[in-house]
Amino acid sequence: MDVTADLVINNGTVVAAESTMNASVAIKDGVVLAVGAADAMPRARETLDANGLHLLPGAIDDHVHFRDPGYPQKEDFASGTIAAAFGGVTTVFDMPNTLPTVEDAATLAAKQAMAAEKAHVDYGLYAVLGESSIARVPELIAGGVIGFKLYMGNTFGRIPTPSTGAMLEAFEAVAPTGKRISLHAETNSVMERREAKLRQAGRIEPLAHLDSRPEVVAIEAVSRAAILAEWTGARAHVLHISSAGELRPLAEAKARGVDITGETCPHYLMLSTDDYARCGGIIRVNPPVREARNREPLWAALIDGTIDVIATDHAPHSREEKTRNDIWTVDCGFAGVETQMPLMLTEIARGRASICDYVRWSAANPARLWGLYPRKGVIQAGADADIAVVDLNRRWVVKDAEAHSIAKVTPWDGRQVQGLPVHTIVRGRFVVKDRALQAGTRGWGRSVHEIQNMPAPAPVNLDQTTTAILSSGARCQ
Ligand code: DOR
Ligand code: ZN
Repeated sequence: MDVTADLVINNGTVVAAESTMNASVAIKDGVVLAVGAADAMPRARETLDANGLHLLPGAIDDHVHFRDPGYPQKEDFASGTIAAAFGGVTTVFDMPNTLPTVEDAATLAAKQAMAAEKAHVDYGLYAVLGESSIARVPELIAGGVIGFKLYMGNTFGRIPTPSTGAMLEAFEAVAPTGKRISLHAETNSVMERREAKLRQAGRIEPLAHLDSRPEVVAIEAVSRAAILAEWTGARAHVLHISSAGELRPLAEAKARGVDITGETCPHYLMLSTDDYARCGGIIRVNPPVREARNREPLWAALIDGTIDVIATDHAPHSREEKTRNDIWTVDCGFAGVETQMPLMLTEIARGRASICDYVRWSAANPARLWGLYPRKGVIQAGADADIAVVDLNRRWVVKDAEAHSIAKVTPWDGRQVQGLPVHTIVRGRFVVKDRALQAGTRGWGRSVHEIQNMPAPAPVNLDQTTTAILSSGARCQ
């Protein structure tokens, strides 16, 4: 080849969702130029010897809360994206429960400007889809959202939960745009009644939180969301699947051809009610970590494709906010963007699944379902050079104190893991090299909303939407 690459990585094992291959990777101008034999690579300004290391497509974490603007004591967009880079994550989608809530064009524009200035990795921004933003769907898409977040249940930020009626109208508004709606699928009215009664009864210990959000809360919400997605043709994504019971309505909707996808997180796969005594309030998260019997079905659903994606719900809070005595006053969630890859790779090393499976869940599938594939989610010629260079043999112990997130309090502290991202490359540039943050990478991250490679929107029942019925006038008897 007659070009000079910016970087050639030699001697590594390149992992894709289907196969692994010993190969060199040449990178130029932020994209992969070639993958192949070392002697077929062009000259390079810089080379990296990846002997003994694996090259994974950078993880795409489609569910993080970076708290910016609004809660700087918990996290900001710089600290969150640095934590991501140290975790081998090269793209994040940030949730809209920041302050002010992202539900109008002006707030979105301000957040876009903030993120562009601070991000060390690529990102997408969500907007809230609720009663007050239904009419703003076009302006939010014009403002560059990656997708919408609909809160069927309350959580941090107390974003109002739309009624089923408002939810249907919201799905009707989004369906023709082809954008995907991510669902916090827990039914609020059930949880509110339970929590009030548990509080009245004086229950304040960590397991009272689980009792207020039993599995049926999620099963009912997933079922209802799937019906509305099917009725309208809106694309839906079920966030943080925590229970075995949610899998049936999800799998059945998929079998009917509904464009609905699912996500779970390491804490639902690896923790259980057995961890509540050890962690106390630190384990409080929505949806809650559940009984151990849910874990095997969740793993099986990942393997059979019912669940598509691994994400983290990275939800940083301060130690004080996580360690209050009364569980109802403890903030929900914990950091995760930096530990997802090592935790999952540890399970891969134990033989749970293959490294290709992991790449499918962490990179290829999220890229596909958000319309980023094949620009992202795969290491091949023409793709963005987003690469986690990983030592699959490195054993180490997670220490919250060493986290790059501002929030240094998680259920993972002290956990033995195997697998460490050594270098993280975002669009051809080292953001982390030899476990050190590289200078000048603040502001390198870009919004990915313009990469859209989705099938055409497929709205249905268009003659029965609220708008259609109103505009068709009075019916003849
Ligand atoms: O536990 C949670 N915390 N679950 C969510 O859905 C939101 C998150 C947060 O923003 O803190
Ligand atoms: Zn969340």
